[in-house]
Amino acid sequence: MKKLRIAIIGCGRISTSYADAFRKLENMIDVCYAVDTDIDRAKSFAEQFHCEYTADYEDLIGKNIDVVHLCLPHYLHPALAIWAMKAGINVLVEKPVAITLQDADKMIDVQKQTGVQLGVIFQTRYNKGVQTIKRLIAENKLGKISGARSYLTWTRPDSYYEESNWKGTWDKEGGGVLIDQAIHSIDRVRYILGSDVEWIEGSIHNYRHEMIKVEDTAEAVVKFKNGCLYNLYACNLYTDNSPITIEFHGEKGRAGLIQDMGFIDLDGMYTEIRNTHDEVKVGPDYWGSCHDVQIRDFYESVLNDTKVSVDGTEGRKTLEIIKGIYLSSQQKKRIVLPFEDTAIEEIVR
Ligand SMILES: NC(=O)c1ccc[n+]([C@@H]2O[C@H](COP(=O)([O-])OP(=O)(O)OC[C@H]3O[C@@H](n4cnc5c(N)ncnc54)[C@H](O)[C@@H]3O)[C@@H](O)[C@H]2O)c1
Repeated sequence: MKKLRIAIIGCGRISTSYADAFRKLENMIDVCYAVDTDIDRAKSFAEQFHCEYTADYEDLIGKNIDVVHLCLPHYLHPALAIWAMKAGINVLVEKPVAITLQDADKMIDVQKQTGVQLGVIFQTRYNKGVQTIKRLIAENKLGKISGARSYLTWTRPDSYYEESNWKGTWDKEGGGVLIDQAIHSIDRVRYILGSDVEWIEGSIHNYRHEMIKVEDTAEAVVKFKNGCLYNLYACNLYTDNSPITIEFHGEKGRAGLIQDMGFIDLDGMYTEIRNTHDEVKVGPDYWGSCHDVQIRDFYESVLNDTKVSVDGTEGRKTLEIIKGIYLSSQQKKRIVLPFEDTAIEEIVR
């Protein structure tokens, strides 16, 4: 089998999960380049794979790279994804796909024009519990789903923001707890329900992080076209990274997730579903454990020229919910889809 020649751009915090995944997938890939403007980070990543490293992503041109992994500050995702796709390189970009819907649209357009693959990382979709509950709901085993809820209470102390030159800003991160941390819960609810959104109402606040301008708390109600009303709460001002809870309430029973573990409460039986694939935890537990599973899935789509499971359009749909909450908070009204994405530069304390 042909081995894919891969490169990673951005060797910061999340790159440990990629190093772990690359080791597991070594029969499919040759890790050829590590790129980071901080050359020491590029070098130390490259040393693990005895590959080349550089501070300038343009050096990848002419090096026959098949796949580039973008692990960059959010605002850089569109420019580098578009650059890579135009150079004929398949792109797997970290979440969020972009920080504006307009940029997400441009990325989707370039993907269509170039015909290379564009994938967006939402690794928690690949957990066994998520897959089982999605199937259960699709098969109507829980009956009509009238309600869904997600609850995320994590901690991001001031030091987390002090150490970063992009987190905690509207122009570079694109928001706070919603676009960075709660995005995975929102994506899982949307993915499991398999329905599009009708309208969004929500509000954001910054209660405890004086040094940043983005939200540390958000709550919202999202109405899906299948009739389900989704309540969400997210904050990163708690004292710990407690397990995320997600629940679906159907007319015949309930199902949900407590962090990575799925549960089903149906017909008087309570069942737990745990991941069974080989796990080597490298990052914090709250990142989830399925980067390698999604990356393998993406490589298979590239090798077999099949549709990518989590493509640019999927990334855009989840971003649209987050942008709808920001807009609803700013305009203090219900946002009906589709809507025009306008920048938010300040929030009400
Ligand atoms: N999927 C998950 O669970 C998960 C978890 C953590 C982070 N992430 C995502 O990973 C991405 C990166 O986050 P992070 O926490 O690793 O950030 P980070 O700040 O630790 O790392 C970003 C790296 O990009 C480098 N960089 C910046 N501009 C560059 C450029 N032009 N060319 C090359 N390198 C450049 C920086 O020097 C830095 O090393 C974000 O999209 C974030 O949301 C995802």
